[in-house]
Amino acid sequence: MSDNIEGKVVVITGASSGLGEATARRLARDGAKIVIGARRIERLRALAQELSLHENAVMQTDVRDREQVKQLVDRAVSVHGHLDVIINNAGLMPHSPLERGRVDDWDQMIDVNLKGVLYGIAAALPHMMRQKTGQIINVSSVAGHKVGPGGAVYAATKHAVRVISEGLRQEVKPYNIRTTIISPGAVATELPNSITEQDVADRVRQLYDRVAISPDSFASAVAFAMSQPEDVDINEILFRPTSQEY
Ligand SMILES: NC(=O)c1ccc[n+]([C@@H]2O[C@H](COP(=O)([O-])OP(=O)(O)OC[C@H]3O[C@@H](n4cnc5c(N)ncnc54)[C@H](OP(=O)(O)O)[C@@H]3O)[C@@H](O)[C@H]2O)c1
Repeated sequence: MSDNIEGKVVVITGASSGLGEATARRLARDGAKIVIGARRIERLRALAQELSLHENAVMQTDVRDREQVKQLVDRAVSVHGHLDVIINNAGLMPHSPLERGRVDDWDQMIDVNLKGVLYGIAAALPHMMRQKTGQIINVSSVAGHKVGPGGAVYAATKHAVRVISEGLRQEVKPYNIRTTIISPGAVATELPNSITEQDVADRVRQLYDRVAISPDSFASAVAFAMSQPEDVDINEILFRPTSQEY
């Protein structure tokens, strides 16, 4: 068990695969009470069963729908009595050069990576302000710090997540709420599957095959940020595979 994790009530969006799933496993092992959301409900149910989560700890959630995000967060409070942490993790990365005009992909990234995070903040804040405690963990990326060809819109959403998180950090001081940005480099998940342009997907997969590290790296970063004493606010963790140049 890690300090300051056991017994905490944690909502994770995008917990049906990748970083969210690995974090659910890690935090459940450390004794947290996890409530998980994503669209693929069968995967969530299987994970909940494996981790022996509460029978109501799973909710089909599309983070593009603000009411569904609110219901997920409210479910955690109704099942477990309060909310300690929300991890706004759901996201996708359909890279492509702007000249190809994949406007639907741009919309998806803005709706999921950016507005989905805002909906998580909107759902969690009223509970945390009332409680005068809580932690909001938003998932950005190395792409929240820099941009490369083909990644303009993704990087824009991830930069925005960092900016919103910093504004949030300053605003929630009176409520004793901690705010954390976690910005990973290449981690081996299903993320490249969201790329709709075949040549781009092939290139990204080759990179991931070469350098990507285990999702446990992300789960460890979450556990580190959560497990600090309540008066210590870890505001950002940026990490990469040792072999990643970008
Ligand atoms: N892996 C990396 O290299 C890396 C690096 C930097 C940042 N990130 C960020 O890490 C986060 C998690 O990605 P991952 O790497 O774990 O990829 P992943 O394995 O593809 O997982 C993405 C998760 O987001 C969920 N999701 C996608 N659209 C959603 C929607 N509309 N509503 C609710 N959930 C949705 C997916 O669940 P459903 O499809 O079941 O809804 C899935 O659980 C993303 O924000 C990503 O940008 C990843």
